[in-house]
Amino acid sequence: MLPLPASDQIAELAVLNSDQVLARVGESLTERGWWVGDNAVAPDLVGELKAELEVLRAADELQRAGIGRDLDWQLAERIRRDRIHWLSRSSPVQMRLLDQMEALRLTLNRELFLGLFEFEAHFAHYPPGAFYRRHLDSFRGAANRIISTVIYLNEDWREDDGGELLLYPPEQDHSMSSGTVTEMTRIAPVAGRLALFLSEEIPHEVLTARRDRYSIAGWFRLNASLGNQIDPPR
Ligand code: OGA
Ligand code: MN
Repeated sequence: MLPLPASDQIAELAVLNSDQVLARVGESLTERGWWVGDNAVAPDLVGELKAELEVLRAADELQRAGIGRDLDWQLAERIRRDRIHWLSRSSPVQMRLLDQMEALRLTLNRELFLGLFEFEAHFAHYPPGAFYRRHLDSFRGAANRIISTVIYLNEDWREDDGGELLLYPPEQDHSMSSGTVTEMTRIAPVAGRLALFLSEEIPHEVLTARRDRYSIAGWFRLNASLGNQIDPPR
């Protein structure tokens, strides 16, 4: 069979294939600050990303994640326990995903008038017992992460495996410790699922995982000028 011309190819990121889905993404992000979709990433790409992450893990290429430059590792350990590896164009499968996210960036800019400038992402492995306490991915004015993205890579995730992503309503004040706010939604890290939320608005946390939890966390940013200010530092 002849390959289809590029413009007719079916994207591996489902939102790029459907104007209807895309419209819902735009609506959800604008109205409540988040969107979640199942089967959002093609199974073949999910499988290859998972395989890549397992290779990186076996080769000891995952690093303990930090939380900003001025906090020491001991404190970081109390806040997050995942292991990460930043994506680059160094491998075909990482390139494949970055190309899809680039297409999504352009689409979001067109649909939502956002001016997103670049995308960065890391693989993440949460070993059993790992979590990421409640946090914001970006602080208003101080940083330039606008939309957070999470792609999940776990087949057969069960309810008692834990590791859900909890999203909270946008903060009224800026204290991270109010503890009284109820969660807005709970997202299990199911293979093919994509979560999008506003980096500056939506506090969130990852509950303790009871088995190995694999994901790719990414951020669409306004510009590249504030490299090391944000959580986590590169
Ligand atoms: C993060 C994060 C959520 C998840 O890496 O900043 O919040 O579900 N990840 O992995
Ligand atoms: Mn986060």
